[in-house]
Amino acid sequence: MVLKLGLAASALAVFVLGAHALTSNGRIHANFPPRPSVPKVSAPTVEEAGPVTSRNGTVLPPYNTTYYFDQLIDHNNPSLGTFKQRYWHTYEFYESGGPIVLFTPGESNADGYSGYLTNRTINGQIAQQQNGSAIVLEHRFYGLSNPYPDLSVASLKVHTIQQAIDDLEYFAKNVKLPQPNGDKVAPGQAPWVLVGGSYSGALTSWTVVNKPNLFQAAYASSAVVESITDYWGYFQPILEYMPSNCSADVQAVIAHVDSVFSSKSEAAINELLLVWNFTTLRPHLDDAAGALRNNLWDWQSLSPSSGYGTFFEFCDALEVKNGVSAGPKGWGLQHALQAWGSFWNNTYYPEVCGDSDQVSCLGTYDPTAAYWTDTSIDNASRSWTWIVCNEVGFFQEGAPKGHPTIVTRLVQPAYDERQCTYWFPEAFPQNGPLPVPRVDETNKAYDGWFVQADRLFFANGHRDPWREATKAADGTHFPSTSQQPLAISDGFHCSDLSTANGKVDETVLSVQQQALKAIGPWLAAWKPSAH
Ligand SMILES: *[C@@H]1O[C@H](CO)[C@@H](O)[C@H](O)[C@H]1NC(C)=O
Ligand SMILES: *[C@@H]1O[C@H](CO)[C@@H](O)[C@H](O)[C@H]1NC(C)=O
Ligand SMILES: *[C@@H]1O[C@H](CO)[C@@H](O)[C@H](O)[C@H]1NC(C)=O
Ligand SMILES: *[C@@H]1O[C@H](CO)[C@@H](O)[C@H](O)[C@H]1NC(C)=O
Ligand SMILES: *[C@@H]1O[C@H](CO)[C@@H](O)[C@H](O)[C@H]1NC(C)=O
Ligand SMILES: *[C@@H]1O[C@H](CO)[C@@H](O)[C@H](O)[C@H]1NC(C)=O
Ligand SMILES: *[C@@H]1O[C@H](CO)[C@@H](O)[C@H](O)[C@H]1NC(C)=O
Ligand SMILES: *[C@@H]1O[C@H](CO)[C@@H](O)[C@H](O)[C@H]1NC(C)=O
Repeated sequence: MVLKLGLAASALAVFVLGAHALTSNGRIHANFPPRPSVPKVSAPTVEEAGPVTSRNGTVLPPYNTTYYFDQLIDHNNPSLGTFKQRYWHTYEFYESGGPIVLFTPGESNADGYSGYLTNRTINGQIAQQQNGSAIVLEHRFYGLSNPYPDLSVASLKVHTIQQAIDDLEYFAKNVKLPQPNGDKVAPGQAPWVLVGGSYSGALTSWTVVNKPNLFQAAYASSAVVESITDYWGYFQPILEYMPSNCSADVQAVIAHVDSVFSSKSEAAINELLLVWNFTTLRPHLDDAAGALRNNLWDWQSLSPSSGYGTFFEFCDALEVKNGVSAGPKGWGLQHALQAWGSFWNNTYYPEVCGDSDQVSCLGTYDPTAAYWTDTSIDNASRSWTWIVCNEVGFFQEGAPKGHPTIVTRLVQPAYDERQCTYWFPEAFPQNGPLPVPRVDETNKAYDGWFVQADRLFFANGHRDPWREATKAADGTHFPSTSQQPLAISDGFHCSDLSTANGKVDETVLSVQQQALKAIGPWLAAWKPSAH
């Protein structure tokens, strides 16, 4: 129940921080795409559930006890020393000989993810079934786990996918866990299981490819394994699964916006900008049209247990007129335009932008703005964008001509690549060519969609906006086998990580049960070895 409320709240949450809005998905600017991130799940507090106890009744430290691991700053140059990497751990389900279940939330501050130690999530369910202990490890360059005291380009030199993979290996091989025999459970001495979702789901797959046999089993949820620069596919599952009236009307409005904004008619452009009060964004019509992606991005916060969210508030605003819902084709352009503008002006803009003016909240053309230049730590958007600009892309654009689109085609990779030069001018000079993410190298190094690794379970959801970068992408037909399973629910992004989602959606439950069933024999087959 607590979890359910937690997810519902996070689906709707819009935290206003000073002049800048921190939108749902933790974005620091309302025209930046959301990260492919794992939903937060918190553990029950001592007040809610009593103390944590081991199988024999020993009282254990509370779930929120923070531990620190001395991680290498640079795996290519260990002489540079170590930094403190935060982790959380429990052995409530542990029995001698059991596995160690390791999870990282990936590109977020790990506070708020303590539920991933417990059976509120698939990790904890694996630990419970297998008599294992569970770990949540904060990823380098997020939260308070930083190799250097800032997020400058010089510091970010050691922020790469490979360093993150090497962190997992070095952690598993060297950590002294705060549990019985905690210095004798390294891989080789005990079976390890790696679990991740979204980017960390991809990291799970990439790690299994890069470090075969380090982990005896792995579970990758909504894993965005294939790096894609022009990731217009983000909006395709949304287009497909949103109410058809809403989809039809959004397509009509976007087609109109693109047509008017591409015309030379000053009067028509100004009139259209005014619908959303966007006049001050001129001359940057791409910012204005791109801002409308926000209403679609809200889809990412949905889960089977979250119920009604901001996304559906938006569709209701477009489709319910005088208490009557439109049929499957919607009300048409004129009503949709006015309804979208009125929802935006009166409800949505204040939620997303707070008191901020349009240019500060939605503009992307001022290279001196604080969100580009502030290099203080614990800014996940900045750390993630470094990986985006260098290694994975995932720019969320309009569909190519010839495909239906619910977002503007005026926003194309050059729009995002230009922003890479604002975030990281020392790496990507503003007067040089636009930086193109090296996605081919990434896919070549870690196999992308074409990963074939035994004892790695892929879990996906049909309604996940990140599905097109996973092994469940449209047009791919990857087989599912007992050693390399691929299970797809009707869930959204990472829905199968949460126990609560399995309780309300039987397709999610089925994926979770298939995984638990597969992992048992994989771990039973484990044998000690020299690592
Ligand atoms: C852990 O949670 C308890 C509430 O259950 C709180 O009193 C305590 O300050 C928290 N400790 C940390 C380290 O956050
Ligand atoms: C109970 O479990 C704890 C932790 O697993 C262990 O240290 C302790 O020796 C156990 N006690 C008994 C009586 O088994
Ligand atoms: C989940 O774990 C708690 C202990 O943390 C236990 O009381 C509860 O029964 C478990 N739930 C299920 C469904 O096994
Ligand atoms: C977990 O431990 C229990 C004893 O507490 C044992 O009966 C069971 O077989 C163990 N399960 C696994 C998967 O090792
Ligand atoms: C039309 O929109 C309403 C309100 O969002 C929605 O509840 C309904 O399912 C939609 N109907 C169709 C056929 O798309
Ligand atoms: C949105 O606000 C602007 C500025 O007040 C106004 O001109 C416009 O008509 C509003 N849009 C709608 C659809 O009411
Ligand atoms: C329109 O934008 C102006 C300038 O940012 C602002 O003062 C005004 O309140 C906005 N009006 C509406 C209806 O949002
Ligand atoms: C992140 O950067 C923004 C500037 O865009 C700043 O306002 C905020 O304080 C930073 N957050 C932290 C935790 O430092």
